[in-house]
Amino acid sequence: MNGELLTGLNEHLKLEFRASHEYLAMSIWLAEHDLPGFAQWMRQQSGDELLHAQRIIDHLVERDEKVSLPAVAAPPDGWSTAEALCEHLLRNEQQVTASINGLYAQAESAKDRPSTVMLQWFVNEQMEEEAAARAILGRIRLAGNTGVGLLMIDQELASGRVPGMVTATSAENAKAAGG
Ligand code: FEO
Repeated sequence: MNGELLTGLNEHLKLEFRASHEYLAMSIWLAEHDLPGFAQWMRQQSGDELLHAQRIIDHLVERDEKVSLPAVAAPPDGWSTAEALCEHLLRNEQQVTASINGLYAQAESAKDRPSTVMLQWFVNEQMEEEAAARAILGRIRLAGNTGVGLLMIDQELASGRVPGMVTATSAENAKAAGG
């Protein structure tokens, strides 16, 4: 594997582990603020981020490339509001997307087909994750400054639906199919 791409994939692991750690902290904050549906959805996101890191690790191991696990910084202590938390969520996802797009371009220019195919999955996943974060943030900005509005958003997330999202996420599709 091209050396720069290998370094880039290893560096990207840090963003996935950071996201997992921060989403777990967000889930705890949401539970503490009486938003159990939102907390449960966020805990699921935290788990998904670990799976993303594992996907890259598996790719490197299968190709007999060196994996360097990063140190993970402590997450923030808390957020002033649910809106601030969602802004943080969206910012994280945008950073992950930028990193994935950069890696995809590197894999393409190195003509590394297996990495290109592996990263294609992430390109689609990031589009969905950014859309979900943007949709929830939009709903919170519209209605979340009232307790009732926040409760409605919480209930929708508890049912597994992302409020304000035009298309169903793959998680929702899997749930609908009984998966
Ligand atoms: Fe794996 Fe949400 O970035």
